Amino acid sequence: MCVTEAWESRDVTEPIIDKFERPLRDLRVSVTDRCNFRCRYCMPREVFGEGYEFLPRRAILRFEEIQRVVRIVAGFGVRKVRITGGEPLLRRDLSQLITMLTQIKGVELALTTNGALLPEQAQALADAGLKRVTVSLDSLDDKTFRAMNDADFPVADVLDGIEAAAVAGLTPIKINAMVQRGVNEDSAIELARYFKGSGHIVRFIEFMDVGMTNNWRPEDVCVGADIVERITAEFPAEPVSPAYRGEVAKRWRYTDGEGEFGIITSVTEPFCGDCTRARLSAEGVLYTCLFAGEGTDLRDTLRSGGSDETLRALLSDIWSSREDRYSERRFEESKLPSRIEMSYIGG
Ligand code: GTP
Ligand code: 5AD
Ligand code: SF4
Ligand code: SF4
Repeated sequence: MCVTEAWESRDVTEPIIDKFERPLRDLRVSVTDRCNFRCRYCMPREVFGEGYEFLPRRAILRFEEIQRVVRIVAGFGVRKVRITGGEPLLRRDLSQLITMLTQIKGVELALTTNGALLPEQAQALADAGLKRVTVSLDSLDDKTFRAMNDADFPVADVLDGIEAAAVAGLTPIKINAMVQRGVNEDSAIELARYFKGSGHIVRFIEFMDVGMTNNWRPEDVCVGADIVERITAEFPAEPVSPAYRGEVAKRWRYTDGEGEFGIITSVTEPFCGDCTRARLSAEGVLYTCLFAGEGTDLRDTLRSGGSDETLRALLSDIWSSREDRYSERRFEESKLPSRIEMSYIGG
């Protein structure tokens, strides 16, 4: 048995906990900071338009480097790895990475995408071992959606992507819809109506103050409880217990048995208490909060011949000193002076 096999077959994991006794369970891996959309609330063209400097190719982690980090965190008890971007399907040969990550035992793989490239890629991703996808879709109204993605992508392309994912068996599919007051609040009920009974689960996300470029204002947040009220007035539903500890979305099940929807209320009902997520940027910086200002570079250690033991010690130090709970402190005065962008770190 080679060393790698011996490592992978170890069934003893060594959980690590942070300062609030939260274990590390979930790693989100950004594979590119580029995107083919320019959603106004994420990559506004004024900032991410011509002249914006994306990460150069040499700066971006290679698949072997990502695989190594995932193998090490799996040893700490990470059970879910979510591939994100930017738009992850823009990363060349992504299914090769999926194949490499499926070799790591005990880790469930998921991916978040805007769906536009799923018609071409869904089958290859499923063949490589991907289990499910989450597709972002903020509106079914073509005019609203094109204005939101600011790249003139029609709703039909994303629906084709969702269909391709369903055909490839990447199910259950979750549909993420960010809801912003004055922009797409009517979309929530339409999305709920459209996907009810489809087997796909729509989750409505409150507009968040991620990054520094989306001009977030508290009054632009469409409160999750109001969305629930609107949907349940038309389609009666009851709350369901979380599928696992620390689940981000609160679940609601339609009482007629036609599936469920969820709400993600980071602003009005924060869920930091159970947050078990770390995020790895495409260039190999590890962040312990979506709203972090700073992270810890792993790429130097990866590229300078650092041993697994060195990496393990570094990761363990980062997690055990973690105190993040940004969403619980959002409205306190000590706002962080800078926060990473969603397109850089993924959702
Ligand atoms: P599954 O339960 O496996 O489907 O994963 P998930 O609920 O983590 O799904 P997903 O990655 O689709 O997360 C949904 C959205 O919730 C993200 O795109 C973010 O907008 C938001 N979100 C996820 N994790 C966090 C978090 O730790 N903090 C905050 N504030 N928002 C988060
Ligand atoms: N607030 C809420 N959700 C956001 N997303 C991106 N930026 C924001 C924001 N500022 C969502 C996208 C996608 C997921 C990756 O995160 O709509 O569904
Ligand atoms: Fe939109 Fe997602 Fe691209 Fe951001 S990363 S611009 S939210 S599609
Ligand atoms: Fe976790 Fe930070 Fe989100 Fe709180 S704000 S749930 S600590 S990522």
